[in-house]
Amino acid sequence: MDSKSKSFSKKLYACWHPVGYSQEIKADKPFGTILLDEPVVIWRTSDGTPYAMRDLCIHRGTALSLGWVENDCLVCPYHAWQYNNKGACVLIPQAKKIEIPSKAKTPRYHCQEKFGIIWVALEDPEFDLPVIPEFENTNWKLVNTGPFNWKCDSSRQVENFTDFGHFPWVHPGLLGDPKRPEVPECKVTTKGSVLHYSIVRPEAKNSNDFPIFANDNVVKPERKSVYELHLPYTIVLRLGWGGNKGMVYFFTSQPISKNACRGFCIIGRNYNFNEPDTILQEFEKVIFDQDKRIVESQRPIQVPFDLSEELHLKFDAVALNYRRAMKKNELYE
Ligand code: FES
Ligand SMILES: [Fe+2]
Repeated sequence: MDSKSKSFSKKLYACWHPVGYSQEIKADKPFGTILLDEPVVIWRTSDGTPYAMRDLCIHRGTALSLGWVENDCLVCPYHAWQYNNKGACVLIPQAKKIEIPSKAKTPRYHCQEKFGIIWVALEDPEFDLPVIPEFENTNWKLVNTGPFNWKCDSSRQVENFTDFGHFPWVHPGLLGDPKRPEVPECKVTTKGSVLHYSIVRPEAKNSNDFPIFANDNVVKPERKSVYELHLPYTIVLRLGWGGNKGMVYFFTSQPISKNACRGFCIIGRNYNFNEPDTILQEFEKVIFDQDKRIVESQRPIQVPFDLSEELHLKFDAVALNYRRAMKKNELYE
């Protein structure tokens, strides 16, 4: 990427970011999105491999995502120039006999498909994606929820996912109990680009509408949550209630722009296989909508990485450590 167009920290371009669920990127239809203010087109060759390129035709600046796929090439919708999977223009139908100018290309980005999500890195990626053995195990069933489009920076969406103190107030009766609002202390260990921490905290009983957690027949249920926060915007959360039943929440946020992000949340569990996926999907829609209203109101729109700018108490240890680690890894200017 040319440096003049950069408005985020340099390192952020060298991270894997989610850009869509696998099902959103169809075999025959290019998919346009924005990543860190950069227009990106994702498309698949006939063997299903996804590719990511700048969503801009060098000829007249048209969005390639409006085009189509033919001969394992991405075809511009305006004059049908064809780009191969390296981003090189290989056919100009208006002048088949001329030599194709070397300038006729569009930048190609790193692209991979993992956990049923397409990931893009605009520059050589520095951190690996997490390893989640449960997601490879057939005793676990996965449900995709969202995506959740919020008008805020990804840092705010991620921090909200890590925040314990709001559960009884923003999600009363679903994730927390206002009669038990205390947050236990939580020790955070940072190893490289990953924060590790865990907490046992009060939980609301399952509601009749959403019988999704394995806390049945308990008067004051508690859940154990074990977190890995992978910088910059990915969280692996393992939930347990003391028995063999468990859940894994995989949450990751696409930084679209400074005031827009898109969250993907995959939920795996080793129980309740017969429950329709829609129960979890509707539950998460309710939860994320409750959060969205609050988070979109936060100012500044991006988490302030200067620690003196907001007021941190002891139970905010995760946010403090997240902000420190993001700064240390130069993921913010
Ligand atoms: S604008 Fe793309 S081929 Fe002309
Ligand atoms: Fe929340």
